[in-house]
Amino acid sequence: MVKVGLVGCGFMGTMHANVYSVLDDASLVGVWDEKPDRAASFVEKWGGHVYASYDEMLADTAIDMVDVCLPTSAHAEFSIAACNAGKHVMCEKPMALTIEDADKMVAAAKHSGVKMMVGHCIRFWPEYEVLKSLVDGGSMGPLLSLNLTRYGAFPAYTVDQWAADPAMAGGGMDMHIHDTDFALYLLGEPKSMVAHGNRDARGVGHFFTTMDYGSCVVQLEGGWNLPQGAPFRMEFRAVFERGAAIYRDGELWIYEEGKSAHKHEAKQMEASGTTGNLSSLGGYYNELAYFVSCIAGDKMPEIVTPESSRESLRYVLEEVRQIESRLTK
Ligand SMILES: NC(=O)c1ccc[n+]([C@@H]2O[C@H](COP(=O)([O-])OP(=O)(O)OC[C@H]3O[C@@H](n4cnc5c(N)ncnc54)[C@H](O)[C@@H]3O)[C@@H](O)[C@H]2O)c1
Repeated sequence: MVKVGLVGCGFMGTMHANVYSVLDDASLVGVWDEKPDRAASFVEKWGGHVYASYDEMLADTAIDMVDVCLPTSAHAEFSIAACNAGKHVMCEKPMALTIEDADKMVAAAKHSGVKMMVGHCIRFWPEYEVLKSLVDGGSMGPLLSLNLTRYGAFPAYTVDQWAADPAMAGGGMDMHIHDTDFALYLLGEPKSMVAHGNRDARGVGHFFTTMDYGSCVVQLEGGWNLPQGAPFRMEFRAVFERGAAIYRDGELWIYEEGKSAHKHEAKQMEASGTTGNLSSLGGYYNELAYFVSCIAGDKMPEIVTPESSRESLRYVLEEVRQIESRLTK
């Protein structure tokens, strides 16, 4: 059984606690949050106990792994402290706000020999897993073009509005990094990348990025600056030499030359102690199940490594740099 200490009892902390509650080989031992009332109501719902401090959590020999669900500006400090205490680390994305901090996290994990994984959940999202298998398997020929889209209203729910502070969230890259990361995971480094966009007081609000892979072009659109009430959308459109895969409105359709179109049915995720479909937990379930299984089986995670998370941060920061330099001209 992998014993988890979770820090940050907010939106993602809740999502992760939800998953631990249905994983057979993980249990939530305790939590810490700088707001004691949030931690108290969290354990009432999800179990475990509240630590008096983060240091107390790190000193607890009953904990195997720390799950960092804090504002991004706190990721490096808390993750590095967990590595130094010999705890495995699950850290939400983006890994950090700067490459310097990401490098320190990579080094801390390496030096202490713990397993570290950043929450690039789209790599585990069922429909995006299908896309990866179509690209890797080559059944419809080479990929010619790919659009990755993610947009919605600004996440106004964050505690004390931390996401509105560019020094804590880094602007809209917070959300857009999902697609930057997925493009790099799917296709590796592009030959070149050009980013345009706009910004407001919260940082870059909307990204329009083109990655050139020579025989294939990838377009990414990411925006968190739509008005409140506007719907959240995540979509992709992949065109292959002999087919296409289109994911929109929660449905993945595959069109293969010479065959009739078919809808890919999302995988039912069975979990002990529950009945029914856990698909609302989407890739979060797959992501945490994978990391916990790596710890239980003493295997280094391969689907998301600290180094590849650092690369995704490097690319998204380059997008931000290009957008800001164009806007100031
Ligand atoms: N993977 C995804 O799809 C996804 C989605 C949303 C958010 N995120 C990421 O998850 C992380 C957390 O975001 P959220 O939406 O859960 O935020 P949130 O505001 O809902 O929750 C943050 C929690 O951390 C606590 N906190 C803040 N600073 C603290 C500190 N220094 N010490 C202890 N507790 C502290 C707050 O009191 C709050 O309970 C961010 O990095 C965000 O980018 C990922």
